[in-house]
Amino acid sequence: VDADAAWADEVRRLARQRDAVLLAHNYQLPEIQEIADHTGDSLALSRIAAESEASTIVFCGVHFMAETAKILSPDKTVLIPDARAGCSLADSLTAEQLREWKAQHPGAVVVSYVNTTADVKAETDICCTSSNAVDVVASIPADQDVLFAPDQFLGAHVKRETGRENLHIWAGECHVHAGINGPELAERAAANPDADLFIHPECGCATSALYLAGEGTVPADKVKILSTGDMVKQARDTSAKSVLVATEVGMLHQLRKAAPEIDFAAVNDRASCRYMKMITPAALLRSLRDGVDEVHVDAETARRARASVERMIAIGQ
Ligand code: 13P
Ligand code: SF4
Repeated sequence: VDADAAWADEVRRLARQRDAVLLAHNYQLPEIQEIADHTGDSLALSRIAAESEASTIVFCGVHFMAETAKILSPDKTVLIPDARAGCSLADSLTAEQLREWKAQHPGAVVVSYVNTTADVKAETDICCTSSNAVDVVASIPADQDVLFAPDQFLGAHVKRETGRENLHIWAGECHVHAGINGPELAERAAANPDADLFIHPECGCATSALYLAGEGTVPADKVKILSTGDMVKQARDTSAKSVLVATEVGMLHQLRKAAPEIDFAAVNDRASCRYMKMITPAALLRSLRDGVDEVHVDAETARRARASVERMIAIGQ
């Protein structure tokens, strides 16, 4: 306990000294979430970063999130405690692959999820997040082809919701969410018939959850497809006494804080993102002490990437 308190004091002291704001994604380790000034989903944190008065942002999350903060706040210093914290979903599409795909579909509008590199965002027309993907695609005239990347499960969700045949979907996935599968979800839902199901749209089980609801196996009003930020909001609103959560297990910490009276359980308790967990207490301390690892995005890439993020923001969250 003493060592933990000394660590927390030192982190706060160094953050003050550097004029730094500490941001933590909902999947971070509980001790990182607790020391952060703000915890939230990827886009909410980038917006907080842009509005903050602090000259330095320490982004406790994965690399594409820190890059998005840098794109929106080019004049600030953005640090990530371990630059090796990548993302298997962002890695499933390179800018070169996207350029080739665009060449095969001239005139198509490119919609990319925020889980992409700055280079991919620079080749994108409109960004989206898991909470606004349907609205973003619905804002595009019906006769225009859409290239949706990189997540196939989020893409399938959008295609179903919009009923759009001219939506082409890249075959990328997040290894953590793809591993949360349909049979596992069906079994857990059958064993907990009163529980709500909170499901991130990147899950391999997202499609089967809707199928279960369509069949009447699970009442449709119990199945909620939500981004991590919307899960926290929904936790405060639901009347359910128990909730099965299909996403990365770090999420349980914020959910339990938001609604301590609800019993939250992971659909798959092995769904842990190794990249998120690279941001250890020691890495955060090193980051603040040494001013590392600094995130850079070249000015022209940042300008083009920022335009795709701003088009999304103009459509609404
Ligand atoms: P959110 O944008 O919903 O926080 O999700 C980010 C992420 O990495 C999902 O795996
Ligand atoms: Fe990327 Fe998946 Fe980890 Fe989210 S959980 S950061 S999508 S690898």
